[in-house]
Amino acid sequence: MSYSAIILAAGKGVRMRSQMPKVVHRVAGRPMIWYVVNAVREAGISDITLVVGHGREIVEEALRGENLHFVVQEQQLGTGHALMQAQNNIDPASTLIVLAGDTPLLEAATVKKLLAYHRQQGAEATVLSAFLPEPYGYGRIIREADGGLERIAEEKDASPEEKRITEINTGMYCFQAQPVFKALARINTANAQGEYYLTDVLPLLKQGGHKVAVMAIEETDQIHGINDRVQLARAESIIRQKQNQALMRNGVTIMAPETTFIDSQVEIGMDTVVYPFTIIEGQTRIGQNCVIGPHSRINDSLIGNDVVIENSRVNQARIADRCNIGPFAYLRPEAELHEDVKVGDFVEIKKSRIGAGSKVPHLSYVGDALLGKGVNVGAGTITCNYDGKNKHRTILEDRVFIGSNTNLVAPVTVGEDSITGAGSTITRDVPANTLAVERAEQRNLKKINKSKTSD
Ligand code: UD1
Ligand code: CA
Repeated sequence: MSYSAIILAAGKGVRMRSQMPKVVHRVAGRPMIWYVVNAVREAGISDITLVVGHGREIVEEALRGENLHFVVQEQQLGTGHALMQAQNNIDPASTLIVLAGDTPLLEAATVKKLLAYHRQQGAEATVLSAFLPEPYGYGRIIREADGGLERIAEEKDASPEEKRITEINTGMYCFQAQPVFKALARINTANAQGEYYLTDVLPLLKQGGHKVAVMAIEETDQIHGINDRVQLARAESIIRQKQNQALMRNGVTIMAPETTFIDSQVEIGMDTVVYPFTIIEGQTRIGQNCVIGPHSRINDSLIGNDVVIENSRVNQARIADRCNIGPFAYLRPEAELHEDVKVGDFVEIKKSRIGAGSKVPHLSYVGDALLGKGVNVGAGTITCNYDGKNKHRTILEDRVFIGSNTNLVAPVTVGEDSITGAGSTITRDVPANTLAVERAEQRNLKKINKSKTSD
């Protein structure tokens, strides 16, 4: 038997008050629809079709590389109409999971339970329901005297008695493809919203002699759709909490999870300690035994083992084992630090390779530079890499020692084992094994009479 999933995501999501389609709003670093896709995948379904419409280029872009099928619903005429658009992509003999794109808290276990229940009941359609103390806005599950499903009444169509029902339609279903598409061809728009309601297939299936089941979910957190940014923030906090807990269970110490924000795609190795007030985002991988934070923000970076990063900003950098960063360092894109590098306080590094064991301990800017092994860059050193038009490279070969407050006017190379004198502006290459000094000789001009100058 084959399984497919269809995720309905053509709607705009008006209450988000956004230029972007609702389902691409991010939760813990990923578009919310990604979590729905992931839950389906983790449940073992790989054939996934998304029905897109509003802002569809943006939705497709946000899910690029996820190996999904997209079908377009040009006009959003209702959930039933949305599902119809996917018919040509679906094997009629398959079992379908149908979900909405705005429920990022849905877990794979729930999808699996729904499939299992559907199979066990031998149903052609199974609706996932939930009991909510505040059912407002949802379709209500109307049951027959014998407990079976009669139909679903939308909020706008429901009678006052029906509105009192607290069992709601989560909008998640399992269907046998062939009967559901047959029934979809027969639904109409005779309802309060003038839409093709997907829910209308259920009574039609029953009339056709098919079995319709209802499975109630207890973990009601999982089914809440995100409609506005308040709900978005709530989902964000739940997903972050889950992520922190997963990391802690894998051997990462997070000292204050409530102040630590780690995106869901971040990986962190065992025995790494994350201090409070730290944000780790994007495609970041951190090795074992590191100490990260407090007060650090790291994104899209690769960090080895035994690295210390304190009070620093790390953006798209690569940091090898045993490096020591900060406090107050700023590593920018393409900063590449080899093993045992020290980058100290108030140091900015951009698009530069720093060789093993080299040190840039204080107050420096290193841009477009290539540093060999064992280089020491004195406090206050600046690579003057930009002439107003172009960027130029600075090369410091192995074991170079740069005196404090050196300006390295690029393009420039300092040969291995050479030294520059403190305060020099180096504009020409320095050969290997050479001491280069560029500064005016000191003149001690005259005695100062203190009693005269002070008033
Ligand atoms: C739907 C259900 C309701 C259920 C609720 C759960 C129907 C008629 N009603 O209501 O019983 O309680 O979900 O959240 O199905 N979509 C499209 N194309 C459309 C319309 C919607 O792709 O033309 C997508 C939306 O982007 C969204 C999902 O379908 O992801 C649900 O649509 P929405 O308008 O939120 O459904 P509700 O009216 O809330
Ligand atoms: Ca609607």
